[in-house]
Amino acid sequence: MYTESQYKRYTVTTALPYANGPVHIGHLAGVYVPADIYVRYLRAMGQEVIFIGGSDEHGVPITIKARKEGCTPQDIVDRYHSIIKESFAELGISFDIYSRTSCKEHHETAAAYFKKLYEAGKFIEKTSLQYYDEEAHQFLADRYITGTCPHCGNENAYGDQCEACGTSLNPTDLINPKSALSGSQPVMRETKHWFLPLDKDEPWLRQWILEGHKDWKTNVYGQCKSWIDAGLQPRAVTRDLDWGVKVPVEGADGKVLYVWFDAPIGYISFTRQLKGDDWEKWWKDQETKLVHFIGKDNIVFHCIIFPSMLHADGSYILPANVPANEFLNLEGDKISTSRNWAVWLHEYLKDFPGKQDVLRYVLCSNAPETKDNDFTWKDFQLKNNSELVAIFGNFVHRTLVLTHKYNGGKVPAAGTAGELELQLVKEMESFPERIGRAIETYHFRDALAEMMNLARLGNKYLTETEPWKRIKENPDEAMTALHYSLQICANLAILCRPFLPFTADKLSRMLHLEAADWQAAGSARLLPEGGLLETPELLFEKVEDTAIDAQMQRLADTKLANEQQAWKPEPYKEKVSFEDFQKVDIRVGTVLEYTKVPKADKLLQFLIDDGDKRRTIVSGIAQSYPEPEKLVGLQVCFIANFEPRKLKGVVSEGMLLSAADKDGRLVLLTTQSPVTAGVSVG
Ligand code: 2FM
Ligand code: ZN
Repeated sequence: MYTESQYKRYTVTTALPYANGPVHIGHLAGVYVPADIYVRYLRAMGQEVIFIGGSDEHGVPITIKARKEGCTPQDIVDRYHSIIKESFAELGISFDIYSRTSCKEHHETAAAYFKKLYEAGKFIEKTSLQYYDEEAHQFLADRYITGTCPHCGNENAYGDQCEACGTSLNPTDLINPKSALSGSQPVMRETKHWFLPLDKDEPWLRQWILEGHKDWKTNVYGQCKSWIDAGLQPRAVTRDLDWGVKVPVEGADGKVLYVWFDAPIGYISFTRQLKGDDWEKWWKDQETKLVHFIGKDNIVFHCIIFPSMLHADGSYILPANVPANEFLNLEGDKISTSRNWAVWLHEYLKDFPGKQDVLRYVLCSNAPETKDNDFTWKDFQLKNNSELVAIFGNFVHRTLVLTHKYNGGKVPAAGTAGELELQLVKEMESFPERIGRAIETYHFRDALAEMMNLARLGNKYLTETEPWKRIKENPDEAMTALHYSLQICANLAILCRPFLPFTADKLSRMLHLEAADWQAAGSARLLPEGGLLETPELLFEKVEDTAIDAQMQRLADTKLANEQQAWKPEPYKEKVSFEDFQKVDIRVGTVLEYTKVPKADKLLQFLIDDGDKRRTIVSGIAQSYPEPEKLVGLQVCFIANFEPRKLKGVVSEGMLLSAADKDGRLVLLTTQSPVTAGVSVG
């Protein structure tokens, strides 16, 4: 079998999701589904492995959310940690531990880690000027400072970025900076921080990654190379904030470890929680393979900064691989938590009960391994209906139903194997190795495709041998065909387990299959002749259009809500003099009659009492007023001194004033209480 022999055990970590929102399909496809496949495979290979996960519960965004909601950061992380943890468990992400960085053990481990490096003189101390809020008595994180963007004039730019023009900023770039805490103008104050001198690590990092890890994925290697080539700079590992791991040195009151310093140490803390005194070999033994599963935005932290922290300590192993994925989009748009543009795992589990494997399948077959990919609900439906149902499910079901029908639900005798069977056995033997090799080299899509090829092979064999036809003239041959088909089913039950664990359980139950080891697969003797089979149940069911339509509708609603929220008034016009304003003669009139204008859906013709005479005004408000009869008697404001204009053959002697709402609906301007027709507005 393929597994590399130099390793005795595996420490597999997954990026710790921020506990300020639930997890979505992007997280799953990029990190958790591939990692779970990897770990389940290793376990099936009999390898010693720990699978570490947990919530990242520090950082400024969490404190900002708490302020917005009027609660504590702990309330926020408590809420999301449990949603995330439960939904991972329900999807079958088989962590050995799913912990959290706000727990005591993590604070202790992270603080001790910092202290050791501090005492060994591994940091440099630097004092710099930073914005301080004198009313709130605290230094301000970049996100807590707002002001005018020097590039585009947006008055609500943040200290780290202007969201209107996308420019990265420093807080000192902002014009008229304001504290988001008190609204006051912040002042500059000196503050001390500790920095990891990454510049000094450059030589060994260059050697270790660029020479030693040419085997890493091109996207990962490429990002590392551009960081290193650009020249590494010292990086601050502390912050002025009151939420996080307190900096454990004297004179560091009000300071915490930077979230990106403490979070990866979480992997170590959680290993200690899991393994107690036996934790060290999982992090310090050269025979342990350390693999970090992450998304591409985390590459620099896991390939450069965390390794440099591990190296600074000196007693740790470094990651053997960091198989980072690109991003998954949703229906052609970037997934975004703030715009609610996502398929949330906890909602999926509610909307599609019992269909965990369908999501796992679709996300793996579409995983953004080499480039960004797109998730669409139509594709989800197609992959379920024409792959899982039509290929995998159909093969297993046909085999089991026929066995029940022709052999009383018992595994028939193998009989005499013909050329077809000999060929089949040979092919079957090669699957575990092929799939395993793909998994071990992080090609999860290929691995899944290979697994499905085995189901395809089964379908082809069944179609070629046609036991339902042979049963009459040659029952022995029909039994042989069913025997081998059942052996393929048993192989599928083992080989699909890393990808589709719920299906693997169900199928194994139906087949009474005991073996689950990868090494057992590839054999045509997994099921004993005469072995009893359960009554077949469907492994997969069709996803109907109505279910897909409901999801599409939800996304359409989200899009609409976002558009409405994103609305801004059109830019205000240049100033005009009072004299110029007075040139426009605005009056109040009373609607006497209306007529629909032929061949003009948008126009209505009104007869208005203007106090002096009856005046005809044509207005483009028809679609906003489907019952124009209700306007008769209404007092409206109109511009009286426009040159008359012909609209669809009718001369209009003025213009009704209306407000165009953000959805395009027009609303007539009227008077707040009755006035005499013909009076001026001004
Ligand atoms: O990007 C993120 O969601 C981070 N919370 C990942 C942290 S990974 C690790 F270092 F803990
Ligand atoms: Zn800007």
